[in-house]
Amino acid sequence: MASDASSLLAEHRHGPSPSARRAAARADFVEAVLKGLWRRPRSIPCRFLYDARGSELFEAITRLEEYYPTRVETALLKAYGADIARLAGADRVLVEFGSGSSRKTSLLIEALGNIPAYIPIEIAPECLREAMAWLGVRHEDLTIVPLIADFTKTRALPPIAQGRRRLGFFSGSTIGNLSHDEARAFLVNAAHLLGGDAMFLVGVDLKKPASILVPAYDDAEGVSAAFNLNLLARINRELDGTFDLSAFAHEAIWNETAGRMEMYLKSLADQTALVLGRRFPFAKGERIHTENSHKYSVAEFQALARISGWQPVHAWTDAEQLFSLHLLRAG
Ligand code: TRP
Repeated sequence: MASDASSLLAEHRHGPSPSARRAAARADFVEAVLKGLWRRPRSIPCRFLYDARGSELFEAITRLEEYYPTRVETALLKAYGADIARLAGADRVLVEFGSGSSRKTSLLIEALGNIPAYIPIEIAPECLREAMAWLGVRHEDLTIVPLIADFTKTRALPPIAQGRRRLGFFSGSTIGNLSHDEARAFLVNAAHLLGGDAMFLVGVDLKKPASILVPAYDDAEGVSAAFNLNLLARINRELDGTFDLSAFAHEAIWNETAGRMEMYLKSLADQTALVLGRRFPFAKGERIHTENSHKYSVAEFQALARISGWQPVHAWTDAEQLFSLHLLRAG
């Protein structure tokens, strides 16, 4: 492996120091929580679900029987990796947005063969470090150039990408966690970032009956509930919060009109919680919105891609029509 923990630290040296990064992250969290609890309806942006404990719980979600997206996307990459590699063409730098654990990426890297470099863009340094160690064992000659950044705000790629064609990868239907406008803005930015003759592989969850969707986001074991409730636990840990976790319930609703799953934390009683000394009263039944997960038919996502700087090349789906992988070409 041409990259290791020391180059990850080198990346750190170019940007803000770890302590400055932590201070900025805390200020961001404080502002989002206070504003989110003051506004009506109450909502806190979903990126705050993924602290260390939240990331662990999300990994547990991806292994649940009810949560099909990870399993089906992995199966699609295994089944169609060779087709993807043939259509994408050789020698592209692979750029992954929100790389997380990079587990699925390994399958893509295997299918692509010799790539000049892999650039994972990930905001959590611990995630990146672990992913690089894991990938390094599996792909000894792979050059990894990590970027610790918010993938929605990335405006430039590291020098190794200069003069080379790029293939983008955005998996897990994370694009569904953006609103339609945000998804469009993200795709437009990705087209600029990846350049004129780029290709882009995007994993997108398909529309399907509520009888499959709701259990995927509200499983029998309660892992989804624990994941959502961890946001309140995190506020208690980091912002002197006094949320009583047993007085809130996880709620996952299929909004047919908007084509999305909506996640909430619902107050089970009239109660007041303190956050950094401020009082936030909750009526019984009052909710905090925590995440949306938009679902797209193949045609809907292709239409979104076309108005966002991309041309559909091919879409792969599984036999049960649960999940889709879209290969797009810039233009
Ligand atoms: N990104 C995941 C998704 O949209 C988020 C998620 C899965 C989630 N299960 C959840 C969010 C339960 C809140 C509660 O599929």
